[in-house]
Order: sequence, then C-alpha cells, then structure tokens
Amino acid sequence: MTTDVVYQDELRRRPRRFRRTAALRELAAETSLNPHQLVLPVFVVSGRDQIQPVSSLPNVNRLSVDQLLPRLENALELGIRAVLLFGVVSSDLKSADGLAAYDPHGPVPTALREIRKHFGTNIVLITDVCLCAYTNHGHCGLLAETPRGIRIDNDASLKPLASTALIHAEAGADFVAPSDMMDGRVATIRHTLDKNGFDDVGIFSYAVKYASAFYGPFREAAGSSPVTEIKRFSQKIPEDRKSYQMDPRNVREGLIEAALDEAEGAEVLMVKPALPYLDVLTKIRGVTDLPLAAYQVSGEYTMLKGAAASGVLDEAAAVRESLLSIRRAGADLIVSYYALEVLEKGWLF
Ligand code: PBG
Repeated sequence: MTTDVVYQDELRRRPRRFRRTAALRELAAETSLNPHQLVLPVFVVSGRDQIQPVSSLPNVNRLSVDQLLPRLENALELGIRAVLLFGVVSSDLKSADGLAAYDPHGPVPTALREIRKHFGTNIVLITDVCLCAYTNHGHCGLLAETPRGIRIDNDASLKPLASTALIHAEAGADFVAPSDMMDGRVATIRHTLDKNGFDDVGIFSYAVKYASAFYGPFREAAGSSPVTEIKRFSQKIPEDRKSYQMDPRNVREGLIEAALDEAEGAEVLMVKPALPYLDVLTKIRGVTDLPLAAYQVSGEYTMLKGAAASGVLDEAAAVRESLLSIRRAGADLIVSYYALEVLEKGWLF
C-alpha cells in the first residue's frame, strides 16, 4: 500500500508562511494589548501605613491611601491610565442599610481626593459602586421582608446606589462603576449625577455580570460574602446573588442587559467574569459601538496563580494568552489583578 503524494497545487495556500519567524508573526498579529488598555483594581482601607495581605489573592493587598500613592505612581510610569477603586470597611461600620457606602469620609472618597490632588488629571479614577462591602448581610442591595421571604429590593436599592455614585463624583471620580445588577441603576445614577452638576462624570457599567463562583477570592478581600442571618430579620436571607446577578446559562439575557444599560446612558459596558464568558463578549461586541470592558475576576487570577505556583503552567505565557484572548473576543479594556505585574515583568511584549 502506498501513501498518496500531496500535490503541490493543493498546497498553494500555506498559512504557515506567516508563522515562520517572530517578525512575520508580528506582521500577521491581529490582536494587541497595550498598557493603557489595562485597568488596575485596588482595595482601599482607611488609616495610614496599612498594607493588609489578602490570603486568597496572592500579591494583592488592601492599602491605605498613603501606601497606594507610590504604587499608582509606578503604575502610571508603566503606562497604566486607569484604576478601579474598591473600599473595604471594618465590620462595625457595616449596617443593614449599607450607609457607609456613601459616607463622604469613607475610604473611597478619601482616596479619590488624595489621588486627585497628587496626580491631577493624569489618572482615570473609576469607582466600584455597590453596597455589598458595606452591608452587614453582604448583599448588593437592600433587603425587604415579604410574605414570600426576604428579597433584595430592587427599587429601594437605587437611592443608596445613586447616593454612593454622587459621593464618588463629588470626591473626584471620572467614572462610577455600578456592579450591583439592580434594574434601572444606570438611569437613576445618570439622573442623580446630572441633577447635581456632574454631567461630565461617566458610567462604567458592570452591565453583564454573572452569578459566578469565580468571585470567591474577591469576597474575602472585600469582606462581602452574603450571610444568611442578621438581627433585624427573622426570616432567612438568600445565601447567594442569583436573584440579581445573571444565570451562567444565558447569553441573550446578556444582550438585553447590555442594550438597557446603553439606552440608560452608560459610557462603557462590562462583561464579568471574562474567560468563561468570551462568547458573551463577542456577541455584545457585535451589537454595540460603545467601548467594552471585561473583568478578569479574582477567581481567574487565582487559578492562574495556583497553576503557576504548582509549576504546571508557564505563568507569563498563560497570563499573556488569557489577556489576549479577552482582547480577541472583543474587549477594549481589561480589568485585571495582573495589570501591574505583567507590565513590571515585561510579560506582554
Ligand atoms: C461587588 C463586586 C464583586 C466583584 C466586583 N464587584 C463581587 C460580587 O459580586 O460578589 C468581583 C470581582 C472579583 O471577583 O474580582 N458587587
């Protein structure tokens, strides 16, 4: 038996020609990632000299603003332009109403003022707007007791969320980033900002946010895991966020969420998590001309860190590939805990 020869005619198209050398591969590259497309998430706490490691997130610390400033200086030098700020408060400041979320002297507004004073307009300041790090039950909205049990009250939650956004705008935020997944929050925040003279502050909406297992390490960092019992309520509190965050089985629902947030006035739409939802990102890319962001969340980060630590993955290559895949799927911007590390270590280029 003989093997048929392959005729030269059939090999006229040889995609490998473009893969032969590194220079040729550069020429054929369809996707790129620049430092200014990365958004660095940071956790801020009150006080001074605070560097609190987060055991679930290697290399990530909760920082007081004095400790944050030099790190931001470094990030700006490396080409990062934007940070996403999360506030963390001690449990004695948490309440059922999450009042601390819109305390003008809370960690986020304080950090905003100091960062702005230090860097002027050379930095883009984005703030996470949510109640979960400030409520004693850990939910992203307010709770209401009903005959059918406790629910997360959509409309009652809009006011404190808008107040939080306003406090952040007053303290110097360029963008507020609502991550609560209540219906109508973008419109409510837009209205509140405009009414108070902050028509130039934008909304960076976590438009398509799934109820994901990949947020686990973040909840340790922010102390925001939902709890099922607090004093004020006799009924059991929902133990997960599935009544407001999206079902991982759905993609059309993501298109609806994206369209609503665009119509309500969002400047940026974000999909979160990133890697398990690249298909969603691509679909949304196809229906909007707004800038799209994707959040490589805490669990995605710790998976890579864990595999790297156990020696089974080449961290630099795996991180580069993950970030590029998020860009290839359609994200303009990527929020990532790796943002600083990839630039410091030259992993992208
Ligand atoms: C707050 C919020 C969460 C994240 C960002 N904003 C957690 C959640 O919804 O439980 C997750 C970020 C991450 O996992 O890195 N609503």
